Order: sequence, then structure tokens, then C-alpha cells
Amino acid sequence: MEKVFEVKHLSYQIGETKILKDINLNIEKGKYVTVVGPSGSGKSTLMRILASMISPTSGDVLFNGQPITSFDPMQYRQRVSYAFQQPTLFGKTVKDNLQFPFEVRKKDFDESLVKKYLEMVNLNESYITKSVNDVSGGEKQRIALIRNLIFPPEVLITDEVTAGLDAENKAIVHKMLNEFNKRGLTILRVTHDETEIDDAQNLITIKNGEVANV
Ligand SMILES: Nc1ncnc2c1ncn2[C@@H]1O[C@H](COP(=O)(O)OP(=O)(O)O)[C@@H](O)[C@H]1O
Ligand SMILES: [Mg+2]
Repeated sequence: MEKVFEVKHLSYQIGETKILKDINLNIEKGKYVTVVGPSGSGKSTLMRILASMISPTSGDVLFNGQPITSFDPMQYRQRVSYAFQQPTLFGKTVKDNLQFPFEVRKKDFDESLVKKYLEMVNLNESYITKSVNDVSGGEKQRIALIRNLIFPPEVLITDEVTAGLDAENKAIVHKMLNEFNKRGLTILRVTHDETEIDDAQNLITIKNGEVANV
């Protein structure tokens, strides 16, 4: 199996505090990997390193066999996309957010593509012109996920994205992510959700800044 990530002797510390300690793991291409562990164990820190938002204090991360430091950050973010637990919509309207992925790729806004994505998460085209202040938390999370996926990356990292959602919204998100995974997207999902953990095919546990099993 091809590896999308190879993490070698990765440590991360702030001052004297060791947050991640000698992490070694491989993530295979196309997998749906579930990352679990107690609050404060270092899951988000590890995900932020894989997303190249922060750099490890020591050790290496390879993406498709190349050190992540060798990639242009803008390009890298299009290939490895990070979805936050508390998504923020920027600008004034939903369109401002869904236009952004087109802008960074210097492409024209494709309304029919956006409509297709909105429908995937049970939202209709009327959402395009809505004010960001007029959408609920669950809608915000779904719109933010579309922003991550409208130009599908190679890897999607979801950090507790279903945490604040009701059962219906969770199901919509699960369905969409399963479909993308079937089409080849590698997904790393951090979760505390028991149903998601029960369904997990590949589980990584982080405890106290260390990998507890692989
Ligand atoms: N920028 C930071 N400054 C200080 N401490 C941090 C910072 N980022 C994370 N930490 C600490 O690192 C530990 C791991 O945090 P985090 O990766 O967010 O854990 P998790 O996502 O598993 O809940 C926590 O104790 C947290 O307080
Ligand atoms: Mg976290």
C-alpha cells in the first residue's frame, strides 16, 4: 500500500512542555483513519502538523514520500485540507465563502458546481446569497466542509467536525465523507463520537502525546 503520510520520530514542544513525543506512524492512501484519545492528548496538534499549519520541533513528516517542508504552503493546503471543529465563515454571504476556493485557483465561480455540492449536504441554492449571520451552526459546518471539498484535496483532516451537530446533520456529513472516501479521498478524522469510533476501520489512539497503538 502506498503511504500518504510517514511520520518519523516527531516531537513537538512549547518551552519545556512536551506535547508530542516521538510519534511514528504511517497513513496509507485512500484510508479512512479515526484518531481518538483524551482531551489534551495532542490530537489537534498532530493534525495541525500534518496540515502544515505548524512545524514539529523535531522529526520528519513525509507527504507522498517528500518532506512537507519541501512543498509550497499554498499548494500543500489544496492537497491536504483541514476542517476545524468550530468553522468560521468569513465575509458577508455564503457565496463569499464558496467563491474563495475558486479565487485561490484563479478560476471563475461555477454556480452549478456549487449547487451540486450544496445539494450533497441537503442545502439548496437559496443558501448562496444568504448572509453568514442567517445560517445555523449545523449549516455553517456543512458549508465549511463544502469549502474544503469543492476542489477535492488528496487528504481531508476533520477535527471533531460533527461534535456540535444533531443526528440528522451528522448523518449528512457521514454520507458525504463516505462518498468522497470511496472515490479515493484519504480522511483523517479526530472524534470523541462513540458511533463514529464503533464504525472505525482504522483507529489510532493518542495518549499523553504518544501513539498508544497502531
Ligand atoms: N499553542 C499552544 N500553547 C500552549 N499549549 C498548547 C498549545 N497548543 C496546544 N497546547 C497544549 O498541548 C496539549 C495538546 O493539545 P491538543 O493538541 O489541542 O489536544 P487534543 O486535540 O487532543 O485535545 C494540551 O495540553 C494543550 O493545552
Ligand atoms: Mg483537539
